[in-house]
Amino acid sequence: MSLNGSGLAMKMVVAIIRHERLQEVQDVLDECGVSGVTVTEVKGCGAQRGYTEKYRGAAVHISLRPRLKVEAVMRSEIVDTVVDKLAVAGRTGKGEVGDGKIFVIGVEDAVRIRTGEHGPETVQHAERAMWGH
Ligand SMILES: Nc1ncnc2c1ncn2[C@@H]1O[C@H](COP(=O)(O)OP(=O)(O)OP(=O)(O)O)[C@@H](O)[C@H]1O
Ligand SMILES: [Mg+2]
Repeated sequence: MSLNGSGLAMKMVVAIIRHERLQEVQDVLDECGVSGVTVTEVKGCGAQRGYTEKYRGAAVHISLRPRLKVEAVMRSEIVDTVVDKLAVAGRTGKGEVGDGKIFVIGVEDAVRIRTGEHGPETVQHAERAMWGH
């Protein structure tokens, strides 16, 4: 199934990764000309599920682990390549349980506030010389 199936010109890649993979993940985005990224500290659990324990009377999800959420909006044409590269960049060794997940979401529009311009040009560097956060 194609990841570009929605017909939208832009996609957002949301990658939940380990902290120590951030540099490699940013390198992939730079290499692909993605012009911006948002990184948030999050906590989560995957297929191994969280479980709840009482701690001083309160229910605590003790298996929620700290991760980084990396959000990047890009042209739909490059999303398959970016996702493949991120799946390698985010991997610990040959791949370990808990290495994370990548989600792809359709994006309706993007606006550069400085100029008011809309659309895919606002999320992609035109020339390599202009790259960099
Ligand atoms: N379905 C999901 N929805 C939202 N976030 C998720 C989902 N699955 C995983 N995550 C996030 O990704 C992080 C890492 O998940 P994880 O790599 O353990 O996924 P998994 O499906 O359990 O795969 P693995 O078997 O390789 O561990 C979680 O801590 C959580 O933040
Ligand atoms: Mg898991």
